[in-house]
Amino acid sequence: MVDSTNPLAAKRIVLAVTGSIAAYKAADVASTLVQLGVAVDVILSEGARQFIQPLTFSALTRRPVHGNPIANWTVELAGHVTLAAADLVLVAPATAQTLARLSLGLADDLLGMVALATSAPLVVAPAMEHGMWHHPATQEHLHRLRERGAVVIGPGAGRLASGASGDGRLAATGEIVGVTRAMLGRAGPLAGTKVVVSAGGTHEPIDPVRFIGNRSSGLMGLALAQAAIDLGAMVTVVAGPTHLSMPHAAEIIRVETAEEMLLKIQGAVEGARVLIMAAAVGDFRPAQRFEQKYKKANSTSGLTVELIQNPDILATIQAPSLIKVGFAAETEHLVANARAKLERKSLQLVVANDAAMTIGSDESKAILIALDGEPEVLPAMRKTELAAVIMDRVTELVTNERGSRTAMWLDHQD
Ligand code: CTP
Repeated sequence: MVDSTNPLAAKRIVLAVTGSIAAYKAADVASTLVQLGVAVDVILSEGARQFIQPLTFSALTRRPVHGNPIANWTVELAGHVTLAAADLVLVAPATAQTLARLSLGLADDLLGMVALATSAPLVVAPAMEHGMWHHPATQEHLHRLRERGAVVIGPGAGRLASGASGDGRLAATGEIVGVTRAMLGRAGPLAGTKVVVSAGGTHEPIDPVRFIGNRSSGLMGLALAQAAIDLGAMVTVVAGPTHLSMPHAAEIIRVETAEEMLLKIQGAVEGARVLIMAAAVGDFRPAQRFEQKYKKANSTSGLTVELIQNPDILATIQAPSLIKVGFAAETEHLVANARAKLERKSLQLVVANDAAMTIGSDESKAILIALDGEPEVLPAMRKTELAAVIMDRVTELVTNERGSRTAMWLDHQD
């Protein structure tokens, strides 16, 4: 991980695990957050200890696991006071009993004390039986917690511990982590900034079952969207067909063709500060789209598909205050070709990479070329890491422009 560009590396959260069979899933949540760079202090309630051992969490988080407040109180650690200084308190799974205690402000265990002492946001992921979830008492407690600013994730519907199905399943790890990341990022340097990111390839239909596409997975664009959320941005993702899951806390617009992508991006950039075109847009589409499946008996000697050019989205979209970032997928003359694209499409930053090595891979070796300045050659890294580096440079562009606009405003006041 390139830690200097990973905003999550500076974050510390309390993960409180309470007594539900879903407690084992909290190990996955802890592990995922730790892998993202977050420092995770676990509070394991007495109930949770019936389901899962403290050792699981101390091994995953490489930090001591907390429980009984008295046992944890030392002058250096100051128990609940130290924990209360976290950036966020996440309760997952949160039982009906825990929600009631949090709502009432009971402070006879460590979580209760931390929840009262902290000014950090409280995020709860409930897990319980269907009837307990829908009971007016539980709903009243939740209502009160929400009114006080708590964020509630899930629960989902499906198979419950009893074997019956209904509401009350702990939300999926991806959702819990996604919401936690968005909450951690919300006061970041891009807070209040709208960022539009395109991701994936496009499908250009020949007939209702066939299309011309490319190998783009969507990974780079989705990693950029997540990195922007981590910095507090309001993110819209315009995504071509992809099987990858979308980042939580982003507006998602799904498209299929390049023309559709252009249309949706034109709408999405209203009020946006940044457009990042990570999509591998199909440059050509079939001139004719057959309404019905094209039968091979129609052309026994073969089929010629005439292709016409698609619009260039990045070049078409022009807005005076929009910072445009593009990618240049090249197989030769990397820097020269990328610089030509930067100028032709009036970009502030272009990310040049080797098309053959990058498309469809988890890794990328990129060169960043800004409008002014020398190309910045980056080592090979995972796309999630590259996304954090790119967003770091984008943040500089946004902040510099903000600075110069303020200077202009001040000049104007003189
Ligand atoms: N792009 C776009 N619309 C297109 C094609 C590309 O907006 N119809 C964007 C891509 O998302 C990328 C940048 O333009 O950010 C460069 O894309 P790339 O495929 O590298 O280059 P092309 O513009 O297609 O040019 P060439 O065919 O000469 O490589």
